[in-house]
Amino acid sequence: MIEERQHVFYITTAHTSYWFRVTAHGQLEHLYYGPRLTPQDPTAVAFKHTSGLGSTVAYDEQDWTYSLDTLPQEYASFGRGDFRDSPLILKMADGSYVSDFVYQEHHIYSGVAPSKTLPQATDQPDTGSQTLYVTLRDKLQAITLELAYTVLPDSDVITRRVVLHNNTAKPLVIDRIMSAQWDMPNRGYALHSFAGAWASEMQHHVQPVTDGTIVLNSLTGGSSNKQNPGFLLSAAEATEDTGWAYGVNLLYSGNHESRIQHTNQNFVRLMTGINSQGFHWSVAPGEAFETPSAALTFSDRGLNGVSQHFHKFINDNVVPPAFQHQDRPIVYNNWEATYFNFNEDKLFALAQQAKDLGVELFVIDDGWFGTRDDDTQGLGDYTVNARKFPHGLPAFVQRVHGLGLKVGLWFEPEMVNENSDLYRAHPEWAVHVPGRAPVLGRHQLVLDLTQPAVQDYIVQQVSHVIDTTGIDYVKWDMNRHITDMYSPALADNAEFNHRYILGLYAVLRRIFRPRPQVLLETCSSGGNRFDLGMLTFGPQIWSSDDTDPIERLTIQQGLSYLYPQSAISAHVSASPNQQTLRVVPLSTRGNVASFGVLGYEMDLNALTDADRAEIREQTAFYKQYRHLLQFGTFTRHPAAQPQQFRWQVQAGDTAIAGFFQQHISAAHGYDCLPVTGLAPETMYTMASKPQRIMLSQYAGLLDHLPAAQGRTSIPDAQEHYTGTGALLATGVMLNNQFMLSGYSDQVRMLGDYGSTLYVIQPEQE
Ligand code: DGJ
Repeated sequence: MIEERQHVFYITTAHTSYWFRVTAHGQLEHLYYGPRLTPQDPTAVAFKHTSGLGSTVAYDEQDWTYSLDTLPQEYASFGRGDFRDSPLILKMADGSYVSDFVYQEHHIYSGVAPSKTLPQATDQPDTGSQTLYVTLRDKLQAITLELAYTVLPDSDVITRRVVLHNNTAKPLVIDRIMSAQWDMPNRGYALHSFAGAWASEMQHHVQPVTDGTIVLNSLTGGSSNKQNPGFLLSAAEATEDTGWAYGVNLLYSGNHESRIQHTNQNFVRLMTGINSQGFHWSVAPGEAFETPSAALTFSDRGLNGVSQHFHKFINDNVVPPAFQHQDRPIVYNNWEATYFNFNEDKLFALAQQAKDLGVELFVIDDGWFGTRDDDTQGLGDYTVNARKFPHGLPAFVQRVHGLGLKVGLWFEPEMVNENSDLYRAHPEWAVHVPGRAPVLGRHQLVLDLTQPAVQDYIVQQVSHVIDTTGIDYVKWDMNRHITDMYSPALADNAEFNHRYILGLYAVLRRIFRPRPQVLLETCSSGGNRFDLGMLTFGPQIWSSDDTDPIERLTIQQGLSYLYPQSAISAHVSASPNQQTLRVVPLSTRGNVASFGVLGYEMDLNALTDADRAEIREQTAFYKQYRHLLQFGTFTRHPAAQPQQFRWQVQAGDTAIAGFFQQHISAAHGYDCLPVTGLAPETMYTMASKPQRIMLSQYAGLLDHLPAAQGRTSIPDAQEHYTGTGALLATGVMLNNQFMLSGYSDQVRMLGDYGSTLYVIQPEQE
């Protein structure tokens, strides 16, 4: 809900309020972002203007306490007395960089702020979303900034973006234009950011917000595995569950930049948007530039509160409408089972087994097309490899459909190998600077998505395969960072990176909007482009090429701060793991992957009968609780030990609590697994998910385990407790022998990365 009274703007969400006002001099003064308040006289929360001493520059000599440098602002101009980092740097037609934007008018409309080129939050019609447009005009030049604030019903996320209009007779150049900026008093904030690399995405870093500016950014051409665009701030007193915390993210998949600046007035300035490094944009007379949308949220329920707001926003308003709250199928993907070495018989045998194990969607990964027998060739040629599929792809898809499985295919449409028919026909489509040999990554070059002809080719190729095969799912991969940013079509190649992303969005829109039933899973060497922009096209993202569940605990927990379980594609793979050689029980592999969109990615021919029995139990359990696991309210419980992870999902009166360990100590004590969100007086049962230990992994120990001799697996005895919600919240004491009552000590010492899941439900009468 958005109201305006006497030039004070009151934005109210389900649990938060965001206020700002027009000052007597026309700037927008940020007043408050915190727990929901009834709109009222804002004087109590307004910053007192007390400056005017020493070197301070007064914006108006008649009003010496009014300095832009100490004013908490909504979107600061440049060069008129605010010496903090600026969200906007413009080169004006007169050659100056000075801007001075003041309030001109505002309007409040129903609905979201539409965009033809950039991802937006979506809303069902007539649900009460509103957008406030505040127009600022430069005092000298006919340039306006339209600041848009959108509130979605029942959501605690506010989206912001800016549209600049050049109404002068001359072109102007944008050097920086952020999507959102605001200033707040410092409450001892810590910054939570998510950095990493290939196969170690989303590592959670915490640092104090102290003097200076912290810059979080990407220059890879994508949102990147190096630095996710999303971040959180927690006030000094905040924990996972309590205290003030803020979250910021961007609906954008390209180079991004966020600046978190602590200023000498003990304020914090936040801004986020397109990365200004290597970026310029010329705006011709009469034209406009639109920024991506930023997503902001606040919670007084700590970091979990912020995460839950983002999860709800993504499930309700970001992913394509056809997949909002729709259960996602259990995938089998052949990549780690076969790599490029497969044919239709081999795949069909895998599909038959996958079906028997409870899988619902069979995905053929890289290698089905052109001469793609390894990663040096074939990218760009999406015609089926007739040696691998002598009966053609439509016939194979039909056969697998006949098993009762959905079918998916892998593509990497943004890339080309030099050894491909496409490159031989169109070398000019590969991104390079004339005269400079382009840098290769994974033996491939980037296609120039700024060119309409390239966009048309990709749309035609991918659409044709989808339509002629009848596939249900597409995995859209992108396996290198972008270099040699240049397109002959562009007058200014500082526009390349943003135009590439606009080209990507145009292609995705043209392929998938007319085919809303096709489930799109995006991927970029794992989680190299895990962002809100991609989620507007495909509701789930392959999170990491690291499928080791022990490392995945860190990656998935990092993702959980910003993205819901329904977005996190997670597969059970072979043990020893192919990236780390770590041996992990199938139970733990399944338990970790169950806190995302579950899949399997292993050679099914290598499974023992006991493995098969366990996988059937896993898929049955997952299907029974799938909606809860994918869409339930997710909570991180703080770890008592750094190697432990405690996750919970809850919906209505049912919860699943997961307890995971990355390392097990031989002399482990007791642990506490709190379960929150339950009715304090209601009696619940809490039952461990039945799981088994595969003795093949512990062959050397069989002599010490007489009860196990002659068996290949031991079903774990199911643990069972009853108690009120209050008792379960207080803590259930677990000995970490819970997985293996009776046998555990010896097995544990061999490196059993223990985990278990508990289902908590009201006791039946
Ligand atoms: C990188 C992806 O992350 C993998 O899952 C797989 O699809 C390979 N590319 C295939 O080349």
